[in-house]
Amino acid sequence: MKESATRTFGILTAGGDCPGLNAAIRGVCRAAYDRYHMNILGIANGYRGLIDGNVRPLNPEDFSGILTRGGTILGTSREKPFKTSEIGEDKVRAIKENYKKHKLDCLVVLGGNGTNTTGYLLSGEGLNILGLPKTIDNDIEGTERSFGFHSAMNICTDAIDRLHSIAVSHNRVMVIETMGHKAGWLALYSGIAAGGDVILIPEIPYDIKAIGSHLKERAKTGKSFSIVVVAEGAMSAEEAKMDKKDRKKRWADSGIPSVAYRVAREIEKETGMETRATVLGYVQRGGIPSASDRVLATSLGTAAADLLARGEYGRMIAQNGGVIGNVELSVPAGKIKFVPRDAPILDTAAAVGTCLGV
Ligand code: F6P
Repeated sequence: MKESATRTFGILTAGGDCPGLNAAIRGVCRAAYDRYHMNILGIANGYRGLIDGNVRPLNPEDFSGILTRGGTILGTSREKPFKTSEIGEDKVRAIKENYKKHKLDCLVVLGGNGTNTTGYLLSGEGLNILGLPKTIDNDIEGTERSFGFHSAMNICTDAIDRLHSIAVSHNRVMVIETMGHKAGWLALYSGIAAGGDVILIPEIPYDIKAIGSHLKERAKTGKSFSIVVVAEGAMSAEEAKMDKKDRKKRWADSGIPSVAYRVAREIEKETGMETRATVLGYVQRGGIPSASDRVLATSLGTAAADLLARGEYGRMIAQNGGVIGNVELSVPAGKIKFVPRDAPILDTAAAVGTCLGV
């Protein structure tokens, strides 16, 4: 058994679930238990479980056989401890009390932007925190990839591939909406992987006229079908200029459920081409992790166990330049990793004739 500065740690999963969470739990726990004989406490349903003291010991049988399972054995929630509670609950105080009551030396949090930001704020309250980057959106500052992204990209790519045959058979424009509320990484990468003719992301507000002329040009070359991949947070240039409240009201008043249907209607109006919309929704977060996500999640998890052993807290484990390392928790806190306008991948898409909405 190797020496460890951490005797007992708690582990929780928070935010949207995704494939790879259980692989990451397994990576942290197996390394921490087998190499360092640490005591592990599983916290149910994200930060909510730590507020309520919904905590149980995890033993080897809890974290074996879960590598390939989707979702999270711990459960998750979008509980925001630093958000004022309507019922006057002092959530942060409850977290600190339970952290102390269970004699935690560290709290390991698996989550996206919100989860790692809460972890950073809790470290400011004196708790030892380690974060792991989880989200299908891949929008976490400080890491080139989060686990969940690759699995979701596979799901989206497969779905877009299936829409090609429908588009060709019906001479239609097929619009498919992926997740990605703030950043368009998932739409961009799966759109390129599946040969989308148009890819719309939140970072590049679109001009329907540019989209229309691109589709009409395609039709002139005999391509009377097209695939349009749109991130759920995409919007027109006009909408981008509106303030958020007015934009949301306009969308609510339109009675159109989401961006795919809005874009489909605008394309039909602009081009006269028969257009249909598909919203992929939650299937993008379901099912088992891809092999790549399993390796990433396991690598991030075992690296977290080593930091626990060294007593190095206040970090988020990350992958950069293909190498597993870690960054200060302040790096992802309160930030979103947007697709930069000069990202080489955007030029890759343009180079193969993809219209990016402008
Ligand atoms: O953060 C990941 C994500 O899947 C986003 O892409 C999506 O907008 C959001 O979660 C959906 O949140 P919920 O699962 O709470 O509806």
